[in-house]
Amino acid sequence: MDKLRMVGGTPLKGEVVIAGAKNAALPILCACLLTDQPVVLRNVPDLQDVRTMLKLLQEIGVTIHFPDASDRSHLILNAAVIKSSEATYEMVKTMRASILVLGPLLARMHSAKVSLPGGCAIGARPVDQHIKGLKAMGASIKITSGYIQAETKPPNDRLKGASIVTDMITVTGTENLLMAATLASGTTILENAAREPEVGDLAELLVKMGAKISGIGSDRLVIEGVEKLHGAEHTVIPDRIEAGTFLCAVAAAGGEVLVKYCRPDTLDAVIAKLKEAGLQMEVGPDWINASMQTRPKAVSFRTSEYPAFPTDMQAQLMAVNAVAGGSSTITETIFENRFMHVQELNRLGADIAIEGNTAIAQGVEKLSGAIVMATDLRASASLVIAGLAAQGETQVDRIYHLDRGYDRMEHKLTLLGAKIERIK
Ligand code: EPU
Repeated sequence: MDKLRMVGGTPLKGEVVIAGAKNAALPILCACLLTDQPVVLRNVPDLQDVRTMLKLLQEIGVTIHFPDASDRSHLILNAAVIKSSEATYEMVKTMRASILVLGPLLARMHSAKVSLPGGCAIGARPVDQHIKGLKAMGASIKITSGYIQAETKPPNDRLKGASIVTDMITVTGTENLLMAATLASGTTILENAAREPEVGDLAELLVKMGAKISGIGSDRLVIEGVEKLHGAEHTVIPDRIEAGTFLCAVAAAGGEVLVKYCRPDTLDAVIAKLKEAGLQMEVGPDWINASMQTRPKAVSFRTSEYPAFPTDMQAQLMAVNAVAGGSSTITETIFENRFMHVQELNRLGADIAIEGNTAIAQGVEKLSGAIVMATDLRASASLVIAGLAAQGETQVDRIYHLDRGYDRMEHKLTLLGAKIERIK
């Protein structure tokens, strides 16, 4: 298992190029199942979750072509032939986002069999809202032997438009129902829809494919179903979480970094908190120049759905708070168990206590390097940030979690002057 070894204390300096958004690319790859024509994608990040999704799509029958062998971000998917409408337990247990094939497969093939995701390190993460919405659209759904078996009623009929209000805001739930609704007969109204920019990016692609969607970017999506979708070309939006992660790295380790090819307009809540922490930022249309010459100030925050502060940035900003001047409270409202990085940060000398869904961090002057273990994707990123700010050597074990969601993070950090290496 690969590890990352780093020696902290070097301020970061230089430029970093942000990749396409993982959480936009994953549903967008699944959207190719909605048409028998080619879908051309650009700015797809080269990371493990994308490779896993491509493998699943290949099992389903999708052909994948990289027109330029040296550019893994540009690909053409063709789902002309669907061999199998199934996502096995093996695939879904590796990556929960595999659930995103359910809506498109059911809409196009009128039946789908997708393993029910099991428990997850950061929370229970049920998919009841996905199922409830598809049922409202006329699907008959049974859970048998750990699988969601869905088919349209009567068999081989189209899904039917419906008015759906989800019990809570769910990102992949909204995406699954949105994709399913594009090929349904009649109009679907999705209320309480997730407003995350990744949902909007998926919707933009669907419109290019011929879908009729209004309300993009709002919590009420209206989809007028069409009989067929066609091929399209699309460039995936930049990853706001990767950009935010690098901004937190600068805030914690100091230095000056130009974050290029990002979408600052999708980072309002993160930028506001980092400003409060003392990070100096000049913001352009697709770049942020961030500079930190002092110790950060502690900032309290709570996670919530977009446009509020993202849960996917909670661990990284906590790492900044670990070395900040003052104390802060961090409340996690999306996932019930997303504090596993706390014990590991404390191994590096942080002073963070947990009370229910709130972490209370007392900033320390200096962290000191240690061996720590990554427990999930964003927890891994927070440990890397803490390691870059710590004195001495830090080793982060189990970085396969990091590889799932970041496109060559240690390579990008090396370009910024960080002393970091991968140990095979
Ligand atoms: N929920 C339910 N029932 C459902 C769906 C969700 O109870 O049917 C609950 C969840 O348990 C959770 C809350 O609703 O407490 C929100 O979950 P959501 O469905 O929005 O999460 P997700 O769609 O599974 C996506 C991202 C996550 C990100 C969350 C929240 C993708 C592929 N994943 O997950 O990304 O944390 O939204 O913004 O888009 C990550 O990238 O590190 C990551 C975990």
